[in-house]
Amino acid sequence: MDAIDVIRAKRDRTGLTGEQIDWAVDAYTRGAIAEEQMAALAMAILLNGMTRTEVSRWTDAMIRSGERMDWSALDRPTTDKHSTGGVGDKITLPLAPVVAACGAAVPQLSGRGLGHTGGTLDKLESIPGWRASLSTGEMLDVLTGTGAVVCAAGGGLAPADRKLYALRDVTGTVESIPLIASSIMSKKIAEGTGALVLDVKVGSGAFMKTVADARELAETMVGIGTDHGLRTVALLTAMDRPLGRAVGNAVEVAESVEVLAGAGPSDVVELTVALAREMLAAAGLADGKDPADALQDGSAMDVWRRMISAQGGDPDAALPVANEAHEVTAPSSGVLTRLDAYGVGVAAWRLGAGRARKEDPVSFGAGIICHAKPGDTVTEGQPLLTLHADEPSRFDRALESLDGAFEITESGTPDLHPLIIDRIA
Ligand code: URA
Repeated sequence: MDAIDVIRAKRDRTGLTGEQIDWAVDAYTRGAIAEEQMAALAMAILLNGMTRTEVSRWTDAMIRSGERMDWSALDRPTTDKHSTGGVGDKITLPLAPVVAACGAAVPQLSGRGLGHTGGTLDKLESIPGWRASLSTGEMLDVLTGTGAVVCAAGGGLAPADRKLYALRDVTGTVESIPLIASSIMSKKIAEGTGALVLDVKVGSGAFMKTVADARELAETMVGIGTDHGLRTVALLTAMDRPLGRAVGNAVEVAESVEVLAGAGPSDVVELTVALAREMLAAAGLADGKDPADALQDGSAMDVWRRMISAQGGDPDAALPVANEAHEVTAPSSGVLTRLDAYGVGVAAWRLGAGRARKEDPVSFGAGIICHAKPGDTVTEGQPLLTLHADEPSRFDRALESLDGAFEITESGTPDLHPLIIDRIA
């Protein structure tokens, strides 16, 4: 095989054979294809796309570049969720325990945040003592003991994806739908879950800005899952405004605990319950306990407490609080018709809740509390947002990104996506 032939085949749209795909992914992972050659191939894929056969084979080759986890020793079916990421998206925190409380096991390998979207591990690490890195044996122990584990992916999982993602990041090829879909699905299939629900976010705060792009990504991922014998369902969900009221790390843990206590913002509860029902149905447990009941009767909270303790965390410890707060008040009275997810996400990032580079630390206490959500009536001077940061010098830049991010009109209805836009199976 020759890298140039593979690049030309994709450039000239003659299609890649299975052997070419297997060879290219393996040779790149071993260092036998140069970075500039894989960059050219990734750009040809971005420009010319991939067929379903090609993208499934590409995903398969990425899975085979590393280990594949196996949870067959568990006495319950496994099911997991992946979100494409958004602002205030803390859903994994209540979701994993609620699904475990309803009888499935959730083996979730999760990531850290980059840019304006947060990462589940960053949020959980704000709990004093909680540890993200577990060996496979420790993961199995936590899963057996509690029914849910959320931890960092080890280096052995889809190493081809890690290398390729770093290259895509510096070559303008992150946006390719087949490359995004194969990247996400290779890690989720290698994780060994028996069923998967995808939360594909749509809107300014999401990777996919339009319903059409989100649908294409969801259909591609569902196709890959199905081709690999994984029961896969996707929900397209709104990310044109922040999810819930809290955006940051510790503030999102606190909001998740409210949901686990049977309260919390209605959109977080609704999405948690909808995703939990899909996860349970995909695992063959549609007729068991309902997730809404598990949030009300304390059983999801019990799993949460055991899951946090099993990973060294203290579920009763006080969460970190930022040193400084700044209030943004409503400039006029009326209806809040817009609260832009991207503007709020960038502001939280600039306050210190997120990172610009992979190696940057995050501030656990930094973030934003949204006191009003689109559709709410507000009165001039009332608090709209509270910004939290460790250093007051961060407020000016955060406020810049909130400039134009919200709108109050005398009367009116917000023009928003429904929380759950569509379901793709
Ligand atoms: N998340 C991933 O894991 N991969 C991508 O390519 C994009 C988002």
